[in-house]
Formats: sequence, structure tokens, C-alpha cells
Amino acid sequence: RRRTAILISGRGSNMAALIAAAQAPDYPAEIALVLSNRADAGGLALARSAGIATATVESRSFKGDRAGFEAAMQAVLDQKGIDLIALAGFMRVLTPGFVAAWEGRMVNIHPSLLPAFPGLDTHARALAAGVRLHGCTVHRVSASVDEGPILAQAAIPVLVGDTEASLAARVLEQEHRLYPAALAWVAAGRTDPPEARGALANPLPDTAWLP
Ligand code: GAR
Repeated sequence: RRRTAILISGRGSNMAALIAAAQAPDYPAEIALVLSNRADAGGLALARSAGIATATVESRSFKGDRAGFEAAMQAVLDQKGIDLIALAGFMRVLTPGFVAAWEGRMVNIHPSLLPAFPGLDTHARALAAGVRLHGCTVHRVSASVDEGPILAQAAIPVLVGDTEASLAARVLEQEHRLYPAALAWVAAGRTDPPEARGALANPLPDTAWLP
């Protein structure tokens, strides 16, 4: 089982979904650490109550010294023998150096169907754009934010009367199903050749999907 760290900044609902999935004995990742860049992240208490080791490296105290912040995180990751990172609502941009050090071993979940709507406020922007399909993406982390190779997506229809909150809630439901499946795929060491993409794009048979 790959020793996996989940990096969070906030409430940690995706983290909780990954922790729950990893409790299955045959799940290929073991959640060995939850690491937050904020001491007040709600997810820390959730992780502790699930019996998971937690750590905080306060990004604020590094005052813009991103390399120093990442060196402190790397020290904690090394100390815990981590070899896979799952970003789950981790709201700091990582430097190319840190990304390179974790190449092929770091994934992220993003609340849109990438490459549409990278960045923040994805649900409001999807509504404003009038898209009929929205969703979430698990991708490998590359140096350009929200641009790494796509591993898995789940799509939902945008409904008449949807608000930012209603859309966020339905996407989040899909995030909690998609991320455990995608992390299992990565932790099992499967590669992602183009011909595997069809299967990869829909790892859950009943994931909402409109052709
Ligand atoms: C999730 O919707 C995640 O996709 C998003 O933040 C939320 C975190 O919620 N991530 C990003 O926007 C990354 N830029 P959670 O803490 O309950 O998992």
C-alpha cells in the first residue's frame, strides 16, 4: 500500500472520502498523513478523529517564501515516508521545483471539467458561461496550475434554476465518488496510455455521464 499524504487547506470533505475508501483492506493507498497549510482547517479534526496522523505547516508564517514553505512540507513528508500526494482543496500554488520532485506521484481534484474553468469560483463561472455540463476532474499535477494530464472526470447536467450552491453540492457529491476511484488507479501504479483513456475517464460505471 502506497504511503499517501493528503494536503488540505479547509473543511476536508474530499479528504474524508479518501480516508473512508482507504479503510478497505485491498485499497492500494494507505493514508499515512493529512498535512494542512492552515492550523484552522476543519479537515484536521476530521482526520484526527479517523485516527490519521496530522501536521500543519503554516504557509502564512513563511510570508511569501514559497520555497521555504515547501522545504518545511517536504521535511514532514520525508519524515513520514510519503511517496504519493493527493491534493484535496489545497489552496496554495506549488513551485515548479516541488512539482518536479513529485512528478508522477502527485494528483489533484478540481471542481470543473478541465480544461474549462481552471482557477477559482468554478461554479459561478460555469453558470455565467451557460454551460450545460459541469463536473470535476482528477489530474496529475504539473507546473502550470490545473493543467496536468487528466486521469478521470465525472460530469453532471446543469439544471434550470441551479445556483452556485446547488451546483457546487452536486459536483461535490461526484468529487467524493471520483477521487477515491482515481487515487486507487494511481496508487496501483497504472499508467495512462492514450488507449486507456476511455476506461480511465469513467472509472465508476454509474458516474453521471452524458455523451
Ligand atoms: C473541492 O471542491 C475541491 O475540488 C476544490 O476545493 C474544494 C475543497 O473541498 N479544490 C480547488 O478548488 C483546488 N483549486 P473539501 O475541502 O471539502 O474537499
